Amino acid sequence: MIVYLAGLALGQLGILFCLNKEYDTPMNPYLAEYPRYVWQLLAGVRSGMECRGAQQRESDIASYLNGAGSLRILDLANGRLRPQYTILRASGHQVYGIDMVNRPRFTGTDLAYRVARQIYAWRMGVSVQAAAAQTLVCGDVGRLPFPDNFFDLATSVAAFEHFLDVPAVVAELERVLRPGGLVWVLIHTFASPSGGHNVTFTEIPLRHLPEGVDAWDHLRKRRLPFHVPLNEWRKDQYLKTFARHFEVLKHYCLAREGEHLLTPEIQAELSDYSVDELTCGALVIVVRKAGGKVADGR
Ligand SMILES: C[S@@+](CC[C@H](N)C(=O)[O-])C[C@H]1O[C@@H](n2cnc3c(N)ncnc32)[C@H](O)[C@@H]1O
Repeated sequence: MIVYLAGLALGQLGILFCLNKEYDTPMNPYLAEYPRYVWQLLAGVRSGMECRGAQQRESDIASYLNGAGSLRILDLANGRLRPQYTILRASGHQVYGIDMVNRPRFTGTDLAYRVARQIYAWRMGVSVQAAAAQTLVCGDVGRLPFPDNFFDLATSVAAFEHFLDVPAVVAELERVLRPGGLVWVLIHTFASPSGGHNVTFTEIPLRHLPEGVDAWDHLRKRRLPFHVPLNEWRKDQYLKTFARHFEVLKHYCLAREGEHLLTPEIQAELSDYSVDELTCGALVIVVRKAGGKVADGR
């Protein structure tokens, strides 16, 4: 056990090293956060958040499943750590994932992520086998390599904000879902205090801003550079786009953040946004494809 944990710790050091090499820029604000991130991984803080998200999804969709047990599910942009893919597979569903990172590679970064996935599985109390890449596809979410009417459920966590052609993704989701199929997405919205993805990644929700950083900098002066692609979409844009293809069953803010950062001056400057939109860190949208029930025919 001690040897195993030592191996895990070394793997984490590998992640530090590799992430640093991959993303380091003269202004990378994240470097100082890596030790905290490693602690969060080992302590199960991050896997705990994933499990709570999965429970939330289950309770949101339960009443629309008509008793269907094992589902065919697509995890859109499963990520290198594959958290929802792993949780759903461990629950007995038939799960597929698509992401541009699903390439079989053997770099130091990939090895480090493999260790991190083992830690996730350990902390979530599921078999490491559930994280295996058996049904992962490398591809663009705007062109899904799956047949029509194939999935009962599509899910996506913290990824829609990175999709640069959301209408194409939503149209593809309609195609690959069977009639009555559901979509459950969690979006880290751009209008939230951490929506620029450039302030911190170890505080979810964001509580403290780094010294010298203004709240909602990404909606105001934009002093901090962005490190990842962001579509900068607002809540209404997502809702309208989903409504073009699906029946919107519900949408709500799963996690508030930054209410204490919203001064009257900032509110006046960002008067185009509601307080609700500015302080919602995680927007959940649940939609259904017309024409059937999930339990039909399988
Ligand atoms: C912040 S990560 C979230 C990953 C995962 N859902 C999670 O919760 O850990 C966003 C993911 O979206 C993927 N992504 C972004 N745009 C994509 C696209 N057009 N096609 C496929 N994957 C994409 C990235 O590769 C990345 O893995």
